[in-house]
Amino acid sequence: MTNGLNIIVIGLGHQALEDHLPAIVESNKYNLVGVVDIDRDHAIDVSKKYNTEYAVSVSEMLSKLPLKPDVALIATPHSAYLEIIEELAENKISIIKEKPFATSVNEAIRIINLIKKSNVSIFVTLQRRFNPIFASVPQLIKKIGALYAIEAKYTMNISKLDSDWRANSRIALGGALSDMGYHFIDLLVWYFGLPISVLCKFSTNNRNGQIYDVEDTAFLEFCFNDHGRDILGNLVVSRVYPEKNECLKIYGRSGCISLKRGDLRRLDIDGNEIEHLIRIGSWSSAIIDQLDEFADRIMDGTKKGEICNEYLKQVAFLEAARLSAKSNQQTLPNDYFETMKGQMS
Ligand SMILES: NC(=O)c1ccc[n+]([C@@H]2O[C@H](COP(=O)([O-])OP(=O)(O)OC[C@H]3O[C@@H](n4cnc5c(N)ncnc54)[C@H](O)[C@@H]3O)[C@@H](O)[C@H]2O)c1
Repeated sequence: MTNGLNIIVIGLGHQALEDHLPAIVESNKYNLVGVVDIDRDHAIDVSKKYNTEYAVSVSEMLSKLPLKPDVALIATPHSAYLEIIEELAENKISIIKEKPFATSVNEAIRIINLIKKSNVSIFVTLQRRFNPIFASVPQLIKKIGALYAIEAKYTMNISKLDSDWRANSRIALGGALSDMGYHFIDLLVWYFGLPISVLCKFSTNNRNGQIYDVEDTAFLEFCFNDHGRDILGNLVVSRVYPEKNECLKIYGRSGCISLKRGDLRRLDIDGNEIEHLIRIGSWSSAIIDQLDEFADRIMDGTKKGEICNEYLKQVAFLEAARLSAKSNQQTLPNDYFETMKGQMS
């Protein structure tokens, strides 16, 4: 045991097994004291691998541990988060949750009130923020002059879309946009803030022979405003495109930035490359850096009971997109942001 924070991990699926548990073991800021999954056999298997306690619920875990853990990392299907957050908050256990912060404004308000009342810390895992390539974008944006356009595309080819919780709107609480698309909503909020308007359309059931009730493809048009000037933008998110593609292009009057996974280029207005950054194999270190920073902030404790504004902006953007798709009309994300901010005071 080190002097790190005692942590439990709740939800032992892909994200916990592939990213978070290995990162916790690697980090010297945490001691893994237990793993929780509703599937008991699976929880037992994982606990044996990590030589730690297991349980099928938070309450069972708390009854088994000699000391309450300092922090819990949750990586479950989206509909399971609220109840788990409620139980952790009641027990004054800090929370690290997988994205999204929330799938709707209503859910965000419930979380805000729980966190405020219990005065614990909450952080959301968004690993791109800890990858130096993505973190270099704001610096390069300064070099391309007044911005006028943004094009973003995040597509995958996932063959089975009707087999797990992501196929079911009651459990996933959204489709491709709130799941994989959330990473791009986060990037846009990080680099540009909150768009002033959003227009969104969803398309679904584009896998022959598979039925599911969430969107597999989303097209968004949005507009940011920079000192009175519009910056036009679009985002395409899809789970059914033939090719995997993750790219963001930012156009300014003096040049362009082209971002792909691990690859960032700045071009001049004629398309000539000015600078090029490449980073290979950075994901596992980004996951560790992310957890380490959360540990420092939990130990610092000055932001307990508060919610980071950017999480609220992500949810406002998402809500605006979803309501636009439903109403077939343009929506204004700031209205949703203000509703959530109002709960903070
Ligand atoms: N940051 C990323 O790049 C990234 C990638 C994939 C998934 N995610 C996020 O991680 C979360 C989990 O996704 P996943 O792909 O690992 O899902 P998954 O289906 O692989 O795993 C979910 C696990 O949670 C367990 N579970 C379900 N309900 C539970 C409950 N009430 N209590 C305890 N355990 C419960 C399931 O048994 C399963 O083992 C989601 O929020 C998803 O959006 C993030």
